[in-house]
Amino acid sequence: MNQPRCWAAIPAAGIGRRMRAGRPKQYLELGGRRVIDHTLARFVGHPAIHRVVVALHPEDPYWPDCAHAGHARVHTVAGGAERADSVLRLLDWLLQQEAADDWVLVHDAARPCLPRADLERLLARAGAHPVGGLLAAPVADTMKRDDAHGAVRETVPREGLWHALTPQMFRVGMLHRALGDALARGHLVTDDAGAMELAGHHPLLVEGSRANLKITRPEDLPLAAFLLEEEKD
Ligand code: C5P
Repeated sequence: MNQPRCWAAIPAAGIGRRMRAGRPKQYLELGGRRVIDHTLARFVGHPAIHRVVVALHPEDPYWPDCAHAGHARVHTVAGGAERADSVLRLLDWLLQQEAADDWVLVHDAARPCLPRADLERLLARAGAHPVGGLLAAPVADTMKRDDAHGAVRETVPREGLWHALTPQMFRVGMLHRALGDALARGHLVTDDAGAMELAGHHPLLVEGSRANLKITRPEDLPLAAFLLEEEKD
């Protein structure tokens, strides 16, 4: 049998409501480039990654100005209403490339600081696992659950809790089935591992760095700029 290929699938069709920045967060400027160009540079040209496919909003006016627009190894598809819908469209496209038995690394466009060492660790460890896995960081802070009125209801023990990061690495066909079933049953799926869990799988947790932050709020941008500067040293 041929070696499975490894694809990167980047949902980038969000419009960034939480950012209040005038344009979607993946298109904000970060160290002289767009956030999404930093993100794509982690995968394009990586020897283990065959091709990259990006889901864009159907009326996205920003993509054509990006450094990776038109790149021979970068393909685009139209995204959907929610992140999970966009991922499903990416997986539909991959199935058209006869990639059902290949690996796919799903990675948020808004995570431009993915450390190279984390990507290598995920490829090695999840790639040797029957189901696949995800980068994740152990929870460091004490966790509280609110009472819906702004006060504490209880402290949630943080032991065994992880932040789910991306990339999340699974077989294209398995993830397509799991995500399609989860959406058809009306589940709210906020990450790809969640769909695999609903299908009865137990994805591998691969420890990753908190430097792999997702740009969500305005204060995340200077932090990301600092982390990228540090990386150069
Ligand atoms: O909004 P959130 O931070 O969860 O978005 C995570 C990633 O999913 C972002 O890269 C965003 O562009 C993408 N997304 C998408 N399609 C949507 C919503 C979000 O591709 N409908």
